[in-house]
Amino acid sequence: MKILVTGGTGYIGSHTVVELQQEGFEVVIIDNLSNSKFEVVQAIKKITGISPDVEIFDLTDEKKVADFFRRHSDLTGIIHFAAFKKVGESVKEPLKYYRNNIVALLNLLYAMKKHSLAFFVFSSSCTVYGQPDQLPVSEDTPLKSASSPYGNTKKMSEEIIEDTVMSSGIKAISLRYFNPIGAHESALIGEMPLGVPDNLIPYVTQTAIGKRDHLRVFGGDYPTPDGTPIRDYIHITDLAKAHIVALQRLIRGRNKRDYEIFNLGTGRGYSVLEVIKSFEKVSGMKLPFEIVDRRQGDMEQVWADTSLANRELGWKALKDLDEMILSAWEWEKALGKNS
Ligand code: UD1
Repeated sequence: MKILVTGGTGYIGSHTVVELQQEGFEVVIIDNLSNSKFEVVQAIKKITGISPDVEIFDLTDEKKVADFFRRHSDLTGIIHFAAFKKVGESVKEPLKYYRNNIVALLNLLYAMKKHSLAFFVFSSSCTVYGQPDQLPVSEDTPLKSASSPYGNTKKMSEEIIEDTVMSSGIKAISLRYFNPIGAHESALIGEMPLGVPDNLIPYVTQTAIGKRDHLRVFGGDYPTPDGTPIRDYIHITDLAKAHIVALQRLIRGRNKRDYEIFNLGTGRGYSVLEVIKSFEKVSGMKLPFEIVDRRQGDMEQVWADTSLANRELGWKALKDLDEMILSAWEWEKALGKNS
């Protein structure tokens, strides 16, 4: 069976392509390389022995999307990752985010309808919950208004998919990720932020390897046990595997509704200081850091109720925090050797 993976050279996309190929799926990637490198394709081949088909173009280009679907009439399903994801940038350039993230989705859904393609897995985020009133956060928690245009594109995309599903033969699953971290065990693929990283883990590993001076911990006065914010970090391979399970649920007709939503996390939260402690333990290094002011727009604490995904998908995140962070560190060291 052939699956289209949009954004397949990106961080989550590349790990998912590996898992798909190892499960016997044929993969075709569409990517515009706006936040990734073509060399990822060679790394995927090194891991799986198979080179995925890759087409480099922008999904906002309606004509190119239509042409792609005319040439690939044998697709079974789509996993849609391709999107911009920088929260801060989205506040400064909302239109860039709305055009990219929404138009790409619309073009794909139009093409799916036209070619009677049924199965769609969407890359969503726990950002749609905002700071939830109750923890852990489950899928039926009412959504709050998004705190950034990026978050709003995820919320709007979910609504667009749901409305489309109700009026077509498309069946879809949205996966709401908590905080994906770490890298493939081969250390051949991982997170590759361009420029200064926004996210915690690449900042930690880049500091440890000497690319950054020290880590700034954003806020030490949150109402959490050690004063720093809490997140549900999930290993990228655990996360990638959930996409294959979700896709198979649709293909095998095991879905209970035409549109379903699942949280993907471990169900456990860790504070920033606990992350630093874990890094120091697995690396044997001391991490230079200082506690500074809170980052605007940051949530205080959030972790997932994963019972729906555990029960319905028969999926569970397996890797613990130390394993996740060690894999991120191995990846950073491998990157250092190759650059
Ligand atoms: C961020 C995005 C979220 C997105 C997710 C995945 C924001 C407000 N949210 O989530 O929408 O889905 O990334 O890409 O940007 N931290 C530091 N120092 C740093 C970096 C981070 O202390 O240099 C702290 C943050 O305050 C936070 C935790 O580390 O408490 C995790 O931060 P990050 O990795 O950026 O993820 P989120 O903020 O949870």
